[in-house]
Amino acid sequence: MTEPIQGTTAPGGTQPGGSFAATAVVPPGLEQPAAAELSALGATDVQPLQRAVALRCDLATLYRLHLQARLPFRILRELARFPCRSREDLYRGVQQAADWALWLPPDCRFRVDASGRAPGLSHSHYSALEVKNALVDWQRQHWGERSTVDLETPDLSFHLHLARGRGGPEAVLSLEGSGGSLHRRGYRAAMGLAPLKENLAAGLISFTGWDGRVPLADPLCGSGTLLIEAACLALGRAPGLSGPGRPPRRFALQGWPDFQPDLWETELDQARALQRDHGPQGDPLAPIVGREQDPSVLEQARTNAAAAGVGGWLDLQAGDVRDFEPPEAAGVLVCNPPYGERIGERDDLEQLYADLGTMLKQRCGGWTLWLLSGNPELTGALRMKASRRIPVSNGGIDCRWLNYDIR
Ligand SMILES: C[S@@+](CC[C@H](N)C(=O)[O-])C[C@H]1O[C@@H](n2cnc3c(N)ncnc32)[C@H](O)[C@@H]1O
Repeated sequence: MTEPIQGTTAPGGTQPGGSFAATAVVPPGLEQPAAAELSALGATDVQPLQRAVALRCDLATLYRLHLQARLPFRILRELARFPCRSREDLYRGVQQAADWALWLPPDCRFRVDASGRAPGLSHSHYSALEVKNALVDWQRQHWGERSTVDLETPDLSFHLHLARGRGGPEAVLSLEGSGGSLHRRGYRAAMGLAPLKENLAAGLISFTGWDGRVPLADPLCGSGTLLIEAACLALGRAPGLSGPGRPPRRFALQGWPDFQPDLWETELDQARALQRDHGPQGDPLAPIVGREQDPSVLEQARTNAAAAGVGGWLDLQAGDVRDFEPPEAAGVLVCNPPYGERIGERDDLEQLYADLGTMLKQRCGGWTLWLLSGNPELTGALRMKASRRIPVSNGGIDCRWLNYDIR
């Protein structure tokens, strides 16, 4: 017999107004802009944490966040939060976390990921196994059969987070709504060398404040991720909608037992209605210019921009950054030069940064520069002084998003 665990909330912790707790998992360094983005999309009680943002939302808002939020990797809907002082607490808490007869029929394939620790639960792998055991044991008792664990294409992805709560160690069991990371917008079949993840690129653009009214240029654009994300933002292309000619993306939440198709359609229509062929203020979009020396990488940028539905707004040029001629009106320069961790040779790179600095000072007076640096020594070769340094992580590499006013 299982005793009810005190403090276990109803599935979803759903309150009378229909709101529940959720967590957006975001790239390190983007917690603040992600919190602002999620608030603007209707989330409440928004609180930036480390690599995550806590929030509350209702189903309509959860759907909207999945379709429109540009910065999260994933959004986790809380099913239950309960005290967890032992493996037994975890096992019982999971079995009582939701109406599994509704949420987990045996033909449903699932996976479990775990993070954090609690007494007796110090290895995430074993904590995840304990959740799996609690679920399949419940199924066997209820139906005499159990789900298959599917790591690649599960119907449900559970996330367990163990941490110290206000009243002691606690477990939070959540469901991921996306089914695959939200940073994969689907426009990037082609990837250059060391591309930025789409959500990191969107977050970096959000720090610049660029709104489509002044030119934007990336003179080392690679496969174009910064420019494509900026254009998508300015032209209202929601990241959860597929670009031209691609089938609609399927989200895991569409398979949940409380999925509301009418509400989803309403949110889809609202996301589609945001698309425009001009900037947010109704003006034509200012020039968006990219430059790349490697012709095959440039071709990838063109393919990606077309797949994202913004190809017509990007002027992508082949050539060396040293020969870059910016648009006439001053605007915002963004770039992610090679920094040696993955590609490029040290001496060549120092020369590249020195030449980049010279080009910027000679031709880009009055522009604002944002440069992603993974190597302070190389950035020193620019011989420019940054006015802001924002710590971010790019694929696990500690970086700075550096801001310069070019005089
Ligand atoms: C780190 S990658 C940029 C990745 C890009 N942000 C993306 O998401 O795809 C740097 C790019 O700079 C290009 N590059 C390196 N030296 C260059 C030069 N002298 N002129 C123009 N492009 C250059 C490389 O070919 C590479 O594609």
